[in-house]
Amino acid sequence: MKAANIRLAKTAGFCFGVNKAVNMVRDLLDEGRQVCTLGPIIHNPQVVEELTERGVRIVEVPEEVPAGCVLVIRSHGVAKSVYGEIEERGLRCVDATCPFVAKIHRIVAANSGEKTAVLIAGDPGHPEVLGIRGHCAGTSFVFRNREELAQQLKIIQSGDFASCIMVSQTTFHTLEWEKCTEIAKKSCTNLQIFDTICNATANRQQEAIHLAQQCHKMVIVGGRESSNTAKLRDVCAPYGPAYLVEDALEIQRDWFCAGETVGLTAGASTPAEIIKEVPH
Ligand code: F3S
Repeated sequence: MKAANIRLAKTAGFCFGVNKAVNMVRDLLDEGRQVCTLGPIIHNPQVVEELTERGVRIVEVPEEVPAGCVLVIRSHGVAKSVYGEIEERGLRCVDATCPFVAKIHRIVAANSGEKTAVLIAGDPGHPEVLGIRGHCAGTSFVFRNREELAQQLKIIQSGDFASCIMVSQTTFHTLEWEKCTEIAKKSCTNLQIFDTICNATANRQQEAIHLAQQCHKMVIVGGRESSNTAKLRDVCAPYGPAYLVEDALEIQRDWFCAGETVGLTAGASTPAEIIKEVPH
């Protein structure tokens, strides 16, 4: 990289929940177990490849787990029905659901019902959101931004709900969340808001914004499938070019000019080894 000055974010890289999940898989392998993960354990192709080489199999549903294999639930968590299926099949299971995600499951399970709508800020196709919805006792509504929230609020108001609760995917944009809560407070009279964005995410996004404001350009290292990596790019983009790369090889020299200051951060699924490969 030609840039003279690279500034690395202190919050770059593996978060506690992802670290714990990957270590659980590595520990099982070290014990000589056969391991299956319910979906890739982490949104990082290099780590997934390393684990696959050690024999880890990725399955989509518990039904696919071969006899004798330990099934690991990843940090995103799963719907209540999936726990039921695992139990019914008598599978040995290690639950690596991040405690921050498990807390959202408990919140929605305890506070939802036929007359209480659950509003979830997040990506409707993301496994964490699918898992959260699968712990709601009544109807849940997912929105990605203010515009979608307004649409969902109209549907809720035309329905037969007495109250609402609002939670967010752990990796939701912090600034968008604040704006969404303001809108929801104005239109729902009986609303309970639970701020469930995890601290690791909030801190990483805030530091990325701060760096982006001070640097000419930003490089964000992380898996393309990773929601929190994509959000890091989104929060940096208003302040200048923000490049998302999966590893150092994807960095193009002509992105940078000599004398520029470049900020470097990485998503929660990016291992330290990959961050170190990027010259800084
Ligand atoms: Fe958990 Fe937050 Fe990481 S929710 S998996 S510690 S980004």
